[in-house]
Amino acid sequence: MSKSDKYPAESGRRRFVKGVVGGAALAGVGAMGSATVNTLTTSGGVGGGATVATTIAHTGGPAPRGLPQIPLRITDEGYIEGIWPETTTITQEGQEIEVAQEDLGGRTYAGEWFQYCGVESQENIQPNFESDNLFRSVTGSYEWQDETYDAGDRIHVDDFDDYDTWGNGLGTDGVGKPAAVTWRSEDADSDLNAVVIRSEQIEQAAEEDEWIAASTDQGFLAYLNVCTHFCCIPGYKQLEEAARYDAADGSYCVCHQSVYDPFTLEESLFIARPRPD
Ligand code: FES
Repeated sequence: MSKSDKYPAESGRRRFVKGVVGGAALAGVGAMGSATVNTLTTSGGVGGGATVATTIAHTGGPAPRGLPQIPLRITDEGYIEGIWPETTTITQEGQEIEVAQEDLGGRTYAGEWFQYCGVESQENIQPNFESDNLFRSVTGSYEWQDETYDAGDRIHVDDFDDYDTWGNGLGTDGVGKPAAVTWRSEDADSDLNAVVIRSEQIEQAAEEDEWIAASTDQGFLAYLNVCTHFCCIPGYKQLEEAARYDAADGSYCVCHQSVYDPFTLEESLFIARPRPD
């Protein structure tokens, strides 16, 4: 691995992994991919199939892969906004379908990254769903957030100024300051739950990597907070018991002890579920 593939040396074990997780799985998809896509797109819906998503790394427990990253930017007013891919029309299995898909930071970013655990049926991940894409605060996860925002408030860069020292008594202080949020959920029946974290590690990594530079901003990173195992909501620095599973500074899913590392990004291959036709 070249030096540019790693987070700075002082961040220790953190590193950015460029490979596709599950090379053996890739072979399987190659062998049956077209049949799978055919079934997925004609009987139950459209737009699913073999997909490579950028995810925060899965580091422990039974989950099959990491949680999909949500690329973001900071608006001119200082609010944190997720990026939703542009809508485009493609032909799949002889049928013209709309997909959310664009080139970003040298990769293909697609709405399919979020098509699992029933999320594929939610209106807010349909390609044309109209939303301002701003992350909005959720209450009950972090004391600082409850003291700063009401539910539904937009989150602002100024409220993360102490990100290099913030702590809540769990894990190590100064690793990253989180907020529990929803995305594209203002006018939807179901929420998309996400986590936004601001960290020096992300800020530094963006200086050396095209993808991280394009998908994060001023040290902010976001990911969809839906466990890839059985779809529970994991917690970043929310439970003391996370330390028993080497997740004191990571994201821990209490349902069956899966662990994710928000400071290691990797590309993960999976079969995205089709959207309802
Ligand atoms: S570990 Fe099973 S749902 Fe998260």
